[in-house]
Amino acid sequence: MRSLIDILDLSVEEIDELIHTADDIISHPEKYSEVCKGKKIATLFYEPSTRTRLSFEAAMLELGGSVIGFSGAQNSSAAKGESVADTAKVVSCYADIIAMRHPKEGAPYVASINASIPVINAGDGGHNHPTQTLADLYTIYREKGEIKDLTVGFCGDLKFGRTVHSLINALARYTGIRFVLISPEELAIPEYVKTDLLDPKGIPYTETTDLEAVMPELDVLYMTRVQKERFFNEEDYLRLKDSYILEPKKLKNAKEDLVIMHPLPRVNEISVAIDDDPRACYFKQVLYGKYMRMALIMKLLKEAQA
Ligand code: CP
Repeated sequence: MRSLIDILDLSVEEIDELIHTADDIISHPEKYSEVCKGKKIATLFYEPSTRTRLSFEAAMLELGGSVIGFSGAQNSSAAKGESVADTAKVVSCYADIIAMRHPKEGAPYVASINASIPVINAGDGGHNHPTQTLADLYTIYREKGEIKDLTVGFCGDLKFGRTVHSLINALARYTGIRFVLISPEELAIPEYVKTDLLDPKGIPYTETTDLEAVMPELDVLYMTRVQKERFFNEEDYLRLKDSYILEPKKLKNAKEDLVIMHPLPRVNEISVAIDDDPRACYFKQVLYGKYMRMALIMKLLKEAQA
């Protein structure tokens, strides 16, 4: 049974197919309005979410299917001690596909090997968030025309940010991508990303603490929130949370066609004064995520039936 646990579970060619399906959904939504009639998605969210859960649910509804699920472990039998493995077996009796978010790294993988239906990782701890990556790749494609020959800056919490780890993994497979990694030293990208991925593939990257110094180089700026929920100590979070705040004056040396992204939710990292700048793409990114999730649901359900 095909699931999506890590973005690398999809080849670049499959991501291209999803992108072309998403383009077609935008152009011809009526063609897709009954594709999943009679099918159900179960959204099993053990951690808070606005975008990911609601976009999976909106995606399935727009495909003519329906939705069951829970938002919060306290609203499920996890509160009574039920395991993820048992939950996956149980939900396989009710639904056709699962989208799961869980605070523990690997929980959606455990679900996938116990379920008899496809499981989509909707974010596991500080590990991966592959459908956010699909939204991010589609945003870059829509705004830049292709995913190629770009300097991509990641700024903020590069240590705990699962969206950052997934997107770097994905972009490392495209041609001509260079990374600029901007963070406080304590929130730097994990060493394994450099030693296991960037260095062996010879992918160029620089690390810095100074966002404004590197701004003129960037084609894409991916801002991130400091992940409060992953800190062990409130004092460290309070000290680091406002390390970077993108304000209009900080864009004075930025490219005219810079693409500003953020997986959201934002806290203080991007001033609301940036929202009207034509380079601000983070709300478009939300919408693009729904189309990519529609394309993904259709693909996995089709493969499950084959
Ligand atoms: N980007 C993202 O995962 O948002 P939510 O936590 O609201 O789902």
